[in-house]
Amino acid sequence: MSEVRRGFVVTLADPAEAAQAAADRFVHLARSACDAMGVFRVALSGGSTPRAMLALLAEEPNRSAIDWGRVQVFWADERAVRPSDPESNYRLAYGTLLSKVSIPESHVFRMPADQADLDEAARQYEETLREETGAAGGDPPVLDLVLLGLGEDGHTASLFPGSAAIAEAHRAVLAVDGPSAGTAGASPPVRRMTLTPLVLNAARERVFLVTGTAKAAMIHNVLEGPYQPDVWPAQIVEAHRSLPLWILDEDAARELDDGKR
Ligand code: 6PG
Repeated sequence: MSEVRRGFVVTLADPAEAAQAAADRFVHLARSACDAMGVFRVALSGGSTPRAMLALLAEEPNRSAIDWGRVQVFWADERAVRPSDPESNYRLAYGTLLSKVSIPESHVFRMPADQADLDEAARQYEETLREETGAAGGDPPVLDLVLLGLGEDGHTASLFPGSAAIAEAHRAVLAVDGPSAGTAGASPPVRRMTLTPLVLNAARERVFLVTGTAKAAMIHNVLEGPYQPDVWPAQIVEAHRSLPLWILDEDAARELDDGKR
């Protein structure tokens, strides 16, 4: 593992090994949080990259290593689609992991981004997040782990380049516009609900899982380029309690300076 100014970087040989490393980290953090506090609160992301990691968590030995009755699942972002839609981040997590482990339904906090009034739905989700984490007054809700991805345009969660949500200082959850068609790889151009940087930076640990050559230039920009989160939003996930952890495969790390791969 090497440290760059903006994160700890661990580079694995391929996407399968990177998924394994992310699953290992999830298990370690879940066990520590459950032992220390009796509960583990995690926010998941969508897109295609987390699928392999989520599937590993549903398999032994991981499945039995976690007391799923003590896990609470939230989302970092959700697309404004029905939960049954193939583009739904909830659907991905439900199909690959949540339907396969004994997590109580009442511990799964889907972002209701399919509601007609998305602003009101984001307000409701913020309230739920505050209640469940016991966040008082203006304090940000504190999650134990936020799992994040990176778009080819530098977005993370649903913080897209140029979005006002990147500078949000009060709200924990916002309704935002999606990317313009074709600007964010396979990420669909639909409206979204997203956690704001307030929550992403208050979390005890932030883990990015990023693989593939298509992300290599943006990995270099975000970790080694000038600080401009309005252009490369993933830079807004900053050192707070700790530096974020970036789990990469060799293809995604190929444009990092020598010695940091
Ligand atoms: C979303 C995501 C998003 C994702 C990146 C990377 O709903 O679009 O949560 O932030 O993490 O777009 O997605 P891929 O893994 O598909 O490249």
